[in-house]
Amino acid sequence: MEKSTGNKKVKVAVFISGRGTNLRSIYNFSKKRNSKINIKLVISNKKDAQGLIFSKKKKIITKIINYNKKIQAEKKILKILKLNKINIICLAGFMKILSENFINKCNIKILNIHPSLLPRYKGLNTHYRVLKNKEIFSGCTVHIVNKKLDSGKILFQKKLKINKNDTIKSLEKRILKIENKIYPLALMKFIRSNF
Ligand code: GRF
Repeated sequence: MEKSTGNKKVKVAVFISGRGTNLRSIYNFSKKRNSKINIKLVISNKKDAQGLIFSKKKKIITKIINYNKKIQAEKKILKILKLNKINIICLAGFMKILSENFINKCNIKILNIHPSLLPRYKGLNTHYRVLKNKEIFSGCTVHIVNKKLDSGKILFQKKLKINKNDTIKSLEKRILKIENKIYPLALMKFIRSNF
């Protein structure tokens, strides 16, 4: 798969499962002048993911991949990535764990955004666990995906102070706002130093 793009834009595939606010923020950023990003492809494992409405409206190539059979699904994804000459994958609320085999074969960098201050609170239900532990801070992290869940090199992180009256919902909302800001920035930073 392509790694060097010269002066051409870097072709990004965004993987989603739901809402797609991070997809939208990366897309909007990609439309700014001098942006090096081209969202070429959106992959969803759910046919009713809300983010698909946006990707179709923006005429981005959109593929729905049934994950009932993971091995076949990932084979299909690898083919689509190659066909579209994708340079980077951004996971944005993609609720499937990519297999080690996929990561090995993929040969391009995969980025992910996680709603906690990694390496703390890997996995699901981060806001619930953060509040339960009466943490003072939380935040979000963009990192490179490796074979261990939420454990790859950290590219960008933003901290937020938890309010006394924060609930899971309010914390999620406040952190999501920050996620939407930092994902495109982290992606740009990554592109600048790798392409
Ligand atoms: C975000 O909170 C992200 O950190 C997590 O899943 C959520 C996706 O949100 N991995 P959206 O679909 O981008 O709105």
